[in-house]
Parts: sequence; C-alpha cells; structure tokens
Amino acid sequence: MHFLVLHGPNLNLLGRREPEVYGTLTLEEINRSVEELAAELGCGVSFRQSNAEGELIDAIQTAAGVYDGIVINPAAYTHTSVAIRDALAAVGVPFVEVHLSNIHRREEFRHKSLTAGLAIGQICGFGRDSYLLGLRALFNHAKI
Ligand code: DQA
Repeated sequence: MHFLVLHGPNLNLLGRREPEVYGTLTLEEINRSVEELAAELGCGVSFRQSNAEGELIDAIQTAAGVYDGIVINPAAYTHTSVAIRDALAAVGVPFVEVHLSNIHRREEFRHKSLTAGLAIGQICGFGRDSYLLGLRALFNHAKI
C-alpha cells in the first residue's frame, strides 16, 4: 500500500509560522515522523507540498490509480476551495483530512471545511499527531 501526504499553502513555513498555533516542528520533521510510522506499518508514503491551488488539484487528479489514499491538509483552501473539493470528488481516492490546529475552536471562518464532507474522517488539533493518526486511520481503512 502506498499513500500520498499532501500539504497545502503556507505549511512549508512550519517551524517559524505562528508557532503558538502550529508548533515548532518543521514540515520536514513532520514528514520524517510520518515516514517512520509508514515503515512501522509496512506501507509506502510520498509527500507533496504546494502553495498553489492548481498544483494541489493536479496532485489529487494524478493520485487516482497510483495511491491507495491521501492524507491531506488543504490548509487555508479547506475553507475556500470548491475546486479542491471537486477534484477529491472526481477521483474518489479515499482520504483523511488533517489539521495541526483545532479549526473548530478558532475563528469562525475556519469552522467550515468544504472538503471534510467527502473524507473518511477529519482529525484536527493534535499537531504532528494529526498526521500520524491520519495515516494510521487511512491504513486501517484501506486494509478492510
Ligand atoms: C490548518 C488550519 C487552517 O485554517 C489554516 O489556514 C492553515 C493550517 C492547520 O493545519 O491547522 O494553514 O490547516
């Protein structure tokens, strides 16, 4: 089994971006932890980060038939992007939506996710662990 971990805009700045909200780990450090978990589970994992909506859409479109699932943090596009939602709906690749912060206890505009309604589930508020829990959940789901 092979999964794609897709990171949206501004997540390349993790470590120095609002550390009181997102923590001090860099994206690279989070990816390494996810890689370790994937090795433990016995699955493969690939990573992609983009600040561009179209590149995220291209990554979702090309995931069909290549990956068994996607762990996605669409970041700000979670709350705005009908196009990313449509891409996820079009390819039908199972996905788990993750967020470092708990979007439901933040500003009201972050409470709504356009993508979560299509996800297997959403995990938020656990920092790096949101990604680890997301991969584990996706892996268990794909085994069924
Ligand atoms: C985020 C939450 C979003 O509201 C925000 O725009 C992000 C990161 C998170 O991981 O907590 O960029 O997705």
